[in-house]
Amino acid sequence: MGQRLIGIFLDTANVDEVIKYHTLGVIRGVTTNPTILVKEGVANGWLGIEKRCKEIAQIIDPLPLSVEVTSNDPAEMLRQARLFTTWAKSINVKITIHGPNGETENLRLVHELETKHDIRVNVTAMMSAQQAMLAAMAGATYVSLFGGRVNNMGYDSRLEIRRLRALLDALGSPARIIVGSTREVLNVIEWFEAGAEIVTTVPHLIEGMLVHPYTKETVRMFLSDAEKIFGSPRAK
Ligand code: E4P
Repeated sequence: MGQRLIGIFLDTANVDEVIKYHTLGVIRGVTTNPTILVKEGVANGWLGIEKRCKEIAQIIDPLPLSVEVTSNDPAEMLRQARLFTTWAKSINVKITIHGPNGETENLRLVHELETKHDIRVNVTAMMSAQQAMLAAMAGATYVSLFGGRVNNMGYDSRLEIRRLRALLDALGSPARIIVGSTREVLNVIEWFEAGAEIVTTVPHLIEGMLVHPYTKETVRMFLSDAEKIFGSPRAK
């Protein structure tokens, strides 16, 4: 397996935030889910979802956009997966590892989409390395661990990521590890260090990574010393 490249994805459906961080050149993709779509004001059923997803896909083209199915009925999930991929070539389909009552059908559909329909799948809502290993074995392109929710349950998400990294390497699996559910700036780097290839982060945490108070102070010093060179007021 060649060197695994890491990258930051943006976990949002906010078009302005996507444009802002895409123009900074710091994102390698975008992830959404129904909760994120509602939070960002998407309404009006399929018309609303299609419009927003197409808009984001166009802004970040050819970078990948994850769009999540809105049902757990296998036939409906298949219909939606095929529909989403007609909206843009860069769209991959998010399917939860199992249903609200533990329905295991989801993994059969993941396998079918990847192997029979040539549709890329991001298996989501996973809390453990063992869930993600099964999703990778089913052929998923992306396996998404919810690091913040794992930590919130009192477990150390870094251990699950390290464990998953070792399992996928032992399997020779090409599945890419996404860690999402970010809660603090530290999450981004510590999850990469633990073996994540992709950390999908809420936009404001990128600002937290970027802006440092001592950098501000240092830049102010440079600017005020630069003024001294020109004498004040600065001669044009
Ligand atoms: C990403 O793909 C997930 O849907 C998202 O990060 C979940 O985050 P949350 O735990 O804040 O809902």
